[in-house]
Amino acid sequence: MQARILIIDDDTAHREGMSILLEDESYLVDQAEGAEAAMKLIREHSYDLIVTDYKMQKIDGMELLKMINDFNPLLPVIMVTGYSSIEHAVEAIHLGALDYIPKPVDPAKLKNVVRRVLHSQTAENIPDSGASVPERYIHFGDIIGKSKAIKTIVRNINEIASIDVPVLISGESGSGKELVARALHKASARSPKPFVAINTGAIPKDLINSELFGHEKGSFTGAIDSKKGKFEEADGGTLFLDEISSMSEAVQIALLRVLESGQIERVGGNRSIPVNVRIVAATNENMDSLMESGRFRQDLFYRLNVYSMELPPLRERQEDIPVLSGYFLERFSEEFHKPISGIEEDALELLRTYSWPGNVRELRNMILRSVVAAKGKIRKKDLPENIRAGKQRGQEFTLKAGTPLPEVERVTIIKTLQLARGNKLKAAGLLGISRRSLYNKIEEYQIKDEEYS
Ligand SMILES: Nc1ncnc2c1ncn2[C@@H]1O[C@H](COP(=O)(O)OP(=O)(O)OP(=O)(O)O)[C@@H](O)[C@H]1O
Ligand SMILES: [Mg+2]
Repeated sequence: MQARILIIDDDTAHREGMSILLEDESYLVDQAEGAEAAMKLIREHSYDLIVTDYKMQKIDGMELLKMINDFNPLLPVIMVTGYSSIEHAVEAIHLGALDYIPKPVDPAKLKNVVRRVLHSQTAENIPDSGASVPERYIHFGDIIGKSKAIKTIVRNINEIASIDVPVLISGESGSGKELVARALHKASARSPKPFVAINTGAIPKDLINSELFGHEKGSFTGAIDSKKGKFEEADGGTLFLDEISSMSEAVQIALLRVLESGQIERVGGNRSIPVNVRIVAATNENMDSLMESGRFRQDLFYRLNVYSMELPPLRERQEDIPVLSGYFLERFSEEFHKPISGIEEDALELLRTYSWPGNVRELRNMILRSVVAAKGKIRKKDLPENIRAGKQRGQEFTLKAGTPLPEVERVTIIKTLQLARGNKLKAAGLLGISRRSLYNKIEEYQIKDEEYS
């Protein structure tokens, strides 16, 4: 079956040019010179792909994209944008465009993108782990799971891997953000090049520029040799910015500058070096509240958050718990040459209902310890005390109707701090507020340590 493509551009020469290129590839190509004509054709025919120019008289590409989405949100759209600026591409992708091609159109790029979109592994191609086949689960890269959330994540990775825009991954600590970032890198055309991770919150202030951008020999005391920064190290590949919520103002400004200019300068150097990296960032805090309190720059956030993925906490995807437990069990029993055949049902039930404030990392470490402790099978008694105690450290509590709201907030905070075993970062994550806001509330309600420890 020949794929049928509709090309929309009000510039005739340009439209013809793209049509010829795609006809050469044996696609069936139709043309329209504006949005209205295009919509008429789209309603009458069934297209496999729409390629539209962004800047058009009357109705522009973005408006057209909205119209197409209203008509059929599954119809793939590629946007051709005359401004190489990322904003249009970003906006288009937010609105559901699958990809974008910068103008002037490079014939090879056009052909590649079209081919990829037409043959991409779309959401529908990911096998559903049907309930009738209990052992089926997703195993993508190192990502394991069978919940809807994990399926969505894998689908998103496939969708965005080949589209070279920044991605922001949010999720609680230990939920698998770095794993997802690595899988994204692997699935992308950048995979032969390095994946470089950097925890931007952990760089000492006076080394920021040197860490990120490198330095020339002798540029400061201690700069014995010239050194590449993380951006140069990651050239052609992916730069993973971990825990951006703890990024200092200085790093934020430095980053913003590179993202805007696409160039870096080494410390003590006098030439600009173009950088080609894909930025993937991770956060375990609510960025909205960080921006509200002025701790994170909005302009930088918008540059990082072009495409976002969210990893729900493990307690919100309980279906993953048995699968992950089984996977870790197999791995560790092999690693330690300890034949452990499985987990007893009542022990597994405890794992399923436990709240996992440390998410998959906590589960992994727990299985590791249990494998060491267990004989033959993992039983209830092999589990750590806090998990055996099960729901005793209740997540649920009762409030009377008519409780003053400040009291509701106070009690909820105390209960959450108990659940997070005093870890304020975790508690703030559970409550959906920033660590700073949590501290403010603890202060405001005069919550004392002994109330939650
Ligand atoms: N879906 C999953 N399948 C298999 N292993 C997982 C999965 N999610 C997380 N893990 C494992 O759990 C551990 C923590 O994951 P990762 O480091 O990606 O979390 P994170 O979200 O980056 O945490 P932090 O915010 O603390 O840095 C790793 O050992 C990782 O391999
Ligand atoms: Mg991490």
